[in-house]
Amino acid sequence: MAETRTTTSHYSVQKKRRADVLAYWKEHQRTIVRGDEVVMVDTPRGMRRGVMVSADGDKPSVNLDANVHEIDPGEVSTVHRHSWDAMAFVVEGSGWTEVDGRRHDWKPWDTIYLPGWAWHRHGNEGTKKARFITFSVQPFVELLGLAVLEDAGHADVATLAPRPLTTEAGLGNDPYSNRMRRLNEKGLEQNESRILTAYDDVNFRVSPRGARSGFLLDSSIGNRTQGLTAVMHQLAPGLYQSRHRHGGEAWLYGVTGTGYSIEDDEKIEWGPGDLVVVDHWAWHQHFNASKTELASLIRVHNFDTLYMGMSALMAPLNLFEELPTLDAPDLTGVEWPDPQAGRPSG
Ligand SMILES: [Fe+2]
Ligand SMILES: [Fe+2]
Repeated sequence: MAETRTTTSHYSVQKKRRADVLAYWKEHQRTIVRGDEVVMVDTPRGMRRGVMVSADGDKPSVNLDANVHEIDPGEVSTVHRHSWDAMAFVVEGSGWTEVDGRRHDWKPWDTIYLPGWAWHRHGNEGTKKARFITFSVQPFVELLGLAVLEDAGHADVATLAPRPLTTEAGLGNDPYSNRMRRLNEKGLEQNESRILTAYDDVNFRVSPRGARSGFLLDSSIGNRTQGLTAVMHQLAPGLYQSRHRHGGEAWLYGVTGTGYSIEDDEKIEWGPGDLVVVDHWAWHQHFNASKTELASLIRVHNFDTLYMGMSALMAPLNLFEELPTLDAPDLTGVEWPDPQAGRPSG
């Protein structure tokens, strides 16, 4: 018979575990990852990869990861799939991504959604290298013990196993059948997710917080994600967004123009290719540093699952705080530059 010989109490085990997690988190906390410091490395996928935030490049996180990818002209990557979902934002060059056997062509500033368990590969038929950045919920899915990655080389997708799907429910009206029906319907809905958001189709709207924003990846435009959402915020020349703070990680990736963010008392300057990390309940505000050019950032977070779940778990604590009166700039008479300004040609 097994006998428990634990000498420490539940209380001290829990206390140490909590302290260790926070120490690990603080040790790896960063407010900016510079694009020009990312080291690109050849991989067996037929592409190059550079880690911005990932345990695979000794820059771990507990929620999101960020990687830069490059594919040379004439190359086709291996096909792979993973249990977590991801999004890719094209920075330069043009190419295509095949998702579950269907091809989607892309060029700079287009966004591609890569659903969990969907086989996908990338190709470049152009004359110059293509570069895109991906964001995924890989660390969070790994935390749950559900992270799986499969590479199938250059196999034809028709020969590979389809996405796993919950069995269709029978005619029963019992908790087991109800679960099958519910999960089957959810799986079918996820399989219908939008994949490509062409930049030309992004609908920009000026928000009360002072930026002009458009959804790149969101349930409101037809994406069915594991929580990822992405918006492009554009700051008019010389202007800024209202101040606020929140828990969790919110990432801001510089696309065009130059700006700076104030996080509590720290000033962080950014430009194209830099990743600003807002993750420690700091009051923060993003500014366009130029008086003449547009500055654009992509904001990515795990809102629809982790953040919503945390909001419920943490209530009555408020996970998003703004000033009672928004300190947004007065936008009357502002002439917004063309949203295409600064966009590279494919
Ligand atoms: Fe992938
Ligand atoms: Fe924020």
